[in-house]
Amino acid sequence: MRPLIIAANWKMNTTPADAGELAATIASRTEEPGVIRVICPPYVCLAAVRDALAGKNISVGAQNVHHELAGAYTGEISAAQLAGLATWVILGHSERRRDQLESDELIGKKLARAISSGLRPILCVGELLAERESGRAVEVVATQLRGALAGKEMEALLNAGFVIAYEPVWAIGTGRTASAADAAAMADAIRATLSADLGWGDSAEVVPVLYGGSVTSANIADFLAEPAIDGGLVGGASLKPDEMAGMVASAAVTARARAAAEGKTA
Ligand code: 13P
Repeated sequence: MRPLIIAANWKMNTTPADAGELAATIASRTEEPGVIRVICPPYVCLAAVRDALAGKNISVGAQNVHHELAGAYTGEISAAQLAGLATWVILGHSERRRDQLESDELIGKKLARAISSGLRPILCVGELLAERESGRAVEVVATQLRGALAGKEMEALLNAGFVIAYEPVWAIGTGRTASAADAAAMADAIRATLSADLGWGDSAEVVPVLYGGSVTSANIADFLAEPAIDGGLVGGASLKPDEMAGMVASAAVTARARAAAEGKTA
């Protein structure tokens, strides 16, 4: 059974002065069994959030990492520098593909670094609106996956707890979501790409696929009702404790239902 994951991407929000308190509030409002919780604050807030979450069974992630471990890369942060601060990392977010022009090849290098450094990666993929409207969404996402995963060892990725987040670009921060059925179809297509194109076979079924893009406590249950979807990567709503409480509670209900269906306890 795949884990249920609710990952908060705080993007360029919060400061070192307020991030710890927000993280602690979210932690205390989201204590549910069967759900992996991850908070990804800006780099400068990682220490405050780590300290606030100490002993609370909720993980801290970075929003990016450089592919080299050290060197002349002004303004960048390496995996070595994240040691002790974060155990997860978001890679290939569409805002970085757009603003920092991150290519699939570069994202692949970051992925390799994350794995070798013991960071659990969340690889983001997703199509633009024009690509969906022209019927190319699956092809675009498959190309992103092949580009980032080329040459990577399946075992290393699986051992690292590799997670994929499907985030259609047109659904991010817009209040407009993909339909749950379309998101589930993409999750199936993602696993088909891993299984067939990349030769992962049945191991593709082990990989959690999250949906991201205007997820809220009001709509997350629709996505979680799809067996192919294993949680959410949440932006705006993840800054609101009430919203996080609702989303994690919904994921906990799903975790219990899926465990019961498999004859296990969540
Ligand atoms: P929103 O939830 O604000 O749409 O952002 C989604 C996202 O980009 C998470 O990585």
